[in-house]
Order: sequence, then structure tokens, then C-alpha cells
Amino acid sequence: METITRTKIVDVLKSESFGTKVNVKGWVRTRRGSKQVNFIALNDGSTINNVQIVVDIEKLGEEYLKPITTGACISVNGILVESQGQGQTCEIQAEEIEIYGTADPATYPLQKKGHSLEFLREIAHLRPRTNTFGAVFRIRHHMAMAIHRFFHERGFSYFHTPIITGSDCEGAGQMFQVTTLDLNDVKKTEEGAVDFAGDFFGKQTSLTVSGQLEGELAAMALGAIYTFGPTFRAENSNTPRHLAEFWMIEPEVAFYEIEENMQLAEDFIKYCIQWALDNCMEDIQFLNNMFDKELIERLQFVLKQNFVRLTYTEGIKILEEAVANGRKFEFPVYWGADLASEHERYLVEEHFKCPVILTDYPKEIKSFYMKQNEDGKTVRAMDVLFPKIGEIIGGSQREEDLEKLSRRAQEMGVPTKDIWWYLDTRRFGTAPHSGFGLGFERLLLFVTGMANIRDVIPFPRTPNNAEF
Ligand code: 4AD
Ligand code: MG
Repeated sequence: METITRTKIVDVLKSESFGTKVNVKGWVRTRRGSKQVNFIALNDGSTINNVQIVVDIEKLGEEYLKPITTGACISVNGILVESQGQGQTCEIQAEEIEIYGTADPATYPLQKKGHSLEFLREIAHLRPRTNTFGAVFRIRHHMAMAIHRFFHERGFSYFHTPIITGSDCEGAGQMFQVTTLDLNDVKKTEEGAVDFAGDFFGKQTSLTVSGQLEGELAAMALGAIYTFGPTFRAENSNTPRHLAEFWMIEPEVAFYEIEENMQLAEDFIKYCIQWALDNCMEDIQFLNNMFDKELIERLQFVLKQNFVRLTYTEGIKILEEAVANGRKFEFPVYWGADLASEHERYLVEEHFKCPVILTDYPKEIKSFYMKQNEDGKTVRAMDVLFPKIGEIIGGSQREEDLEKLSRRAQEMGVPTKDIWWYLDTRRFGTAPHSGFGLGFERLLLFVTGMANIRDVIPFPRTPNNAEF
């Protein structure tokens, strides 16, 4: 076969160099036609759109073409021509085809159109080859780019915090233990506890639930940082919004008070959504048509809104009024209760019909490091609540006073000896500062309109599921 430099299908489809010879490579989505002429829809992942390959059966040989079925990988040399058919501007008249890999129709799982998302989760190794997951994972890439650009443009440094940690000070969730101990022969101390002295790190270690505490150390030097990495929570919450392994973005900024923190969060989410609309429209349009007819409208709507800001106490009042007026919730509403997703979504979707930032939560239901308010009851927490998602961001102004912070840690059972290094930031040159964490997959749920968080990460980790 003649060697021609490969052109990506995304570029071929934009090209108007009709009459020239091109090479494309990709995977066959469909093949149809008559005994004389066949049409192959070819996709190479560079765009959701396929290029149509027109094949003269007699010219290329019926026997030779036989293995070119759905899922096969081929390389095509041909002439780019203006398309006669509807729905495309150009197509390629094949002159030579090389078959890289076949996909036996008897065993290739992606035959019929319209597999369920549940079925596709069972073949997560192949689902990127579908239109839906191609779109989702291209958008995922674009969102990661948008996030780095947003912070880079604002002078934030990307700071890498450890994945393996020796302390569970965050209290954000159950942790996964990391060990090289032989679990069939665990040595015990005299007191009968597991002897971690013989473990890899000489102490008990886990996968991190958040990079925040280390992020705060960096903010006290670099001024403004963000983390962007995987985090791990072993809670047994089998919901469409929880993963055991998810990615989190955590900015932390010296000298920010909660108001600036809220503004950063709002600007940040809007920047990401605008980026998606500007750069991923074909994919979003596809998902809009397939799964969620209001997706584009919802994205555009959120961009236009100023997020409503109110305190937890005001939020509880609104929920209590709703209950008094007959609105039923599964979980009880009272001052001091942790808000369930149904409460958050009531505020966002039914009451305000707009994203909401709730602040000043009861200290009992928030982490020890949040700045304590004068009232002695609440802390300067801020949760950003989104339509269809509920909590998308959690954050706060941080307690910068060493004594108050240590006291709160003790009250909440956080072993201060394990976080001597964290407390040192308050000992040496402490400063007011704030930060938050955005769940990357929650953002993706919003931007793609997908309903289940397992469908916006390539290989989801959830209870009883770590295949692939
Ligand atoms: O509210 P969270 O637990 O906050 C923290 O971890 C803080 N250290 C953040 C900070 O202030 N730097 O988690 C932050 C966000 C949530 O709002 C949610 O979007 C996401 O992380 N999240 C999850 N996403 C998927 N699966 C889970 N199990 C999640 N738990 C939290
Ligand atoms: Mg939270």
C-alpha cells in the first residue's frame, strides 16, 4: 500500500481539498451497502463524527473486504471528494485498504446500536469506542485542560500532594489502608494491636481522602496553589454521585476570606462550563440529543446566574417552611442536621431555581479546620449546590488561630500529634486563608448531563467493583 501521511478524521471533515489523495486510519462503526458499493463509517476518536468511506467492491475484492466489519481497524488510502449524500460534506473513495485488526461479529460485544449504559459498564474496556463515551471522555479531557488554564491564568501553582498519607485528620471519610504486611501472618504488639513497626512505612498508612492539609502548607509559601489528583474514600455509599476513587481539585489561597473564596468558586465553575460550550459543542450536542434534552439550556442558564448565597440557618428555615407546607423529605430537617442531597436539590431546583452557596454550617457537622464564627456555634464553611447534582464543591475559610484550631481538633478527636506539621503553619507566620474542593466527576456529571457518576470516569471504583 502506498505510504501517505495520515490525516485525522476531524481534519479530513473540515478539508475542502477535493480531488487529493488522503490516508485515514480508524475503527469501523458500520458497513452497509449493495453488492457493488459499500459505505463504511470510520471513526478515529478525534471527533464524534465519522468519515464515510465509499468502497467499490469489485475493485478491492469481495473476499478481501469480508473481515471489514463493525469494530475492525483499517487504514484507507483514497480520494477526498465532495459528498453526494446527506449529512456530510465530504467522503473518501477508497483506492487501497489495509486491515490492521478484525473484530469477529460472533464475539465483538459492540454490535447492535443502543446498548444500555449498565451493559456498557460491564465492558468498560470497550465502551470508549461508543459515541457516548467518546464524547464523555473528550469532554473530560477538555475540562482538565480548562481547570489548569483557569488557575494558571490567575497565577496559581499546581502543587502535588501525596497519595499515601500517614494521618486521617480530614475526617472526610473512611480510608483505604496501604500495607505490605502479610495479612495471613499479622504480628501483634504486646497490647494486642497490629504492629505497624514492621510495615513498609513503619507506621499505619492510607490512601488520601484529600490533599487539602498539604495544600494549606503550600499556600503559606506560594500564596495561591491548587491540587488536582485522585482521592479515595471507602464509604459504602452506592449512589449515582459517589465513587471510591475520584479526582478532586483543591485550590488554597493565602489572605482570602470566605467571600473571595465563594467568588473564586463561582468564577471557576463558570469558566469550566464556558470552556465546554466553546470547545466541546459537538459532543455536548450529541449528549443533549441522546440523554438530556435540557443539557445545553441548563449550561447556558447557569452561566447567566449569580449564585444565590445564604447561610445554612436561612437554608434550614426555607426547608422547614417547605415541610410545614406539606413537602415530604426522606430525612428530617432541623437546625444541626447534615443536609441530604434531597434537601440541597430542593433549595436549588425548587426554591431558588439557581445554583446556591450555603455558608456558616453548624460546627458539629464540619471539619475541625474550619474558621470558627463568633457565635460559637457555626463555622465558615461554604458548599456550592448545583441542579441535578447537589453538592459540587465543599470548602471553607480556615481557622488560622493555633489555640482555637488545636482545641477544636481535640474536641473532634483528631490526634494533634499526627498533625504537628499542619499546626506548624499556625505556629509560624500564620495567615487568614481559604480554599475548597471541587469533585471533578461531579462537574462532569453537570457538563455532560450523564446521570450516573460511573459513566464519567473511565474505570469506576465502587463497592464490589474494581474490574479493569
Ligand atoms: O466536601 P469534601 O469532602 O471536602 C474536602 O475534601 C475538602 N478537603 C475540600 C477543601 O476544602 N479543600 O469534598 C469536596 C468535593 C465534594 O463537594 C464533592 O464534589 C466531591 O468532592 N466528593 C466526591 N465525589 C465523588 N465521590 C465521592 N465519594 C465524593 N466525596 C466528595
Ligand atoms: Mg462536603
